[in-house]
Amino acid sequence: MTDSIAPILGRSALLAPVLDACCGSKMFWFDRQDSRAVFVDKRRETHALPDVSSAGGVRTLEINPDIVADFTELPFTADHFAMVVFDPPHLVRAGKKGWQAKKYGKLEGDWREMIRRGFAECFRVLKPEGTLIFKWNEHEVPVSQILALTPERPLIGQRCGKTAKTHWLVFMKRPASGANDLLTHRVGGEKTSTKE
Ligand SMILES: C[S@@+](CC[C@H](N)C(=O)[O-])C[C@H]1O[C@@H](n2cnc3c(N)ncnc32)[C@H](O)[C@@H]1O
Repeated sequence: MTDSIAPILGRSALLAPVLDACCGSKMFWFDRQDSRAVFVDKRRETHALPDVSSAGGVRTLEINPDIVADFTELPFTADHFAMVVFDPPHLVRAGKKGWQAKKYGKLEGDWREMIRRGFAECFRVLKPEGTLIFKWNEHEVPVSQILALTPERPLIGQRCGKTAKTHWLVFMKRPASGANDLLTHRVGGEKTSTKE
C-alpha cells in the first residue's frame, strides 16, 4: 500500500485483507465498520431520501468511504488484498438527481473503458489466488457485454432478484507462475507429480 495512504487509514486498515473498490452506502455489508475491509468510493456525500417505511418518511443515505479514490487508479500496491469486492454502477438511464443515481451512481461518458480499467485495477491489487466478488444488474446492460471487458473468467456465479437480473460472480486471480510445480503428493504409495 502506498505511503501516502498510511496516515489516513491507520495501522489496522493497512493490514486489512479485503477491499471494497466502490462501497457506496455499504448496503450489502453485515457490518459497515468491518475492520477487515478498506472501503473506497469516488464520492463522500449524504442525502435524505423519501422512504415511507422510515420515521418521518425520510431515510438518510450516507456514502462514507475510508478513502475517496477512483477504481480506475487504485492507490494500493499490487498483489495486496486476499479479496476484492467490485460492484460498479450499472444504470445508464437513471436521472442524475433521482434516488437510484444517488444510491448506485450512474454510467456516463466512456463507461465501458472505466469498467475495463476497474477490472484491471481490482485484479492488480489482488494477491495471486485472491478472490474477486463482482456484482452486476443487467436491467439495462447484459452481463455478457460486461464480461467482455476483462480477459479473466469467473469460476462460479448465481443470478438472483425478482427478475433474476442480478448476477453475483466469483473470480480468482491466477496463481503466481511456477505455483503448480509444488503440486507433488503421494497416492497409494506412488509418488505423483504434475511436473515430470
Ligand atoms: C452500485 S453502487 C455500490 C453499492 C454498494 N455495493 C452497496 O452495497 O451499497 C456503485 C458505487 O460506485 C461508485 N463509483 C462509480 N464510479 C466510480 C469510480 N470510478 N471509482 C470509485 N467508485 C466509483 C459510485 O459512487 C457508487 O457509490
